[in-house]
Amino acid sequence: MINEAISSVQKEFEAELPSVDLNSLEAVNALRVKYLGKKGSVTELLKQMGKLPAEERPAYGKDVNELKEFVSAQIENALAAASEHALEAKLAAGFVDISLPGDGIPAGSTHPLYDVREEIIDFFAHMGFAVDLGRDIETDWYNFEALNTPPDHPSRDMQDTFYLADKVMLRTHTSGTQIHYMETHKPPFRMIAPGHVFRVDSDATHAPMFQQCEGLVVDENISFSQLKGILQLFMNQLFGEGVKTRFRPSFFPFTEPSAEMDVSCVFCGGTGCRRCKGTGWMELGGCGSVDPNVFKNCGIDPEKYTGFAFGFGLDRIAMLRHAIPEIGLLTSNDQRFLNQF
Ligand code: DAH
Repeated sequence: MINEAISSVQKEFEAELPSVDLNSLEAVNALRVKYLGKKGSVTELLKQMGKLPAEERPAYGKDVNELKEFVSAQIENALAAASEHALEAKLAAGFVDISLPGDGIPAGSTHPLYDVREEIIDFFAHMGFAVDLGRDIETDWYNFEALNTPPDHPSRDMQDTFYLADKVMLRTHTSGTQIHYMETHKPPFRMIAPGHVFRVDSDATHAPMFQQCEGLVVDENISFSQLKGILQLFMNQLFGEGVKTRFRPSFFPFTEPSAEMDVSCVFCGGTGCRRCKGTGWMELGGCGSVDPNVFKNCGIDPEKYTGFAFGFGLDRIAMLRHAIPEIGLLTSNDQRFLNQF
């Protein structure tokens, strides 16, 4: 009686199998559920085993397990055929040309400001200058007072300086690193201090954050002509052999005498153009002989030592080199801009 049940399920399965569309994963899956699923007919047969008298169970169990193995094997074959068919259909629908080159990984490039900074460090390191990065946050002493900058100096105004607390600020220039250096080193020494500086200022040529590089040389008998020589070499490095320099008298509280350094216009070579406003010259940085008061503030004897200092903007150098019209582009992170370098 029970074996009849087994053989009738088997017959049913054998009758149904040929009519199932072996190209359809769904149809084969439905067949699997119908026989082997939780409520499938083979599964139901297995459940009946518990209801049988003990002596009938071994024979019944053997038959029903054989049926289960048979059904499983058939369905597995059918599933494999259907999967393969599905894959073939997919490949036929969308032709894949495996000989085509893949998508390249776009190569990055160094940022123009980074390049300028590296080149500057490289140039001065070769001349024996130490590199001190200093710190972005300074106190009044380092940013102003020790640099001989009087309390009523305009740069101390809230309009120009980002104050973080009373007498604590984002540095407005890298000159403060000179003071840290002189406080902790004994002359002779030469150092540069590249880094970010911050000012309440923003237009096409001014940004609230930009980069400067400070330089300082202290020894006995240091002269202004040595300063001129080094800066001339430095400009040759940046802008090529033909570039000329000139020094105009100026004022900075921490140098005496002070000068502004110009380079011959890098666009017209000095004949005068729109970019140099017809003058043939472009202003690039400040410099001078270290003021004796600055030495005194750092515990260095101004009778024994002399020195020179200079400071210039890295953004400006990068802008001149690549004819970049707006300083903001350098920090815009715009791929259309950056991909040009
Ligand atoms: N600190 C000045 C500025 O931010 C630049 C400068 C001028 C630095 C003259 C110097 C110097 O060391 O001697 O405009």
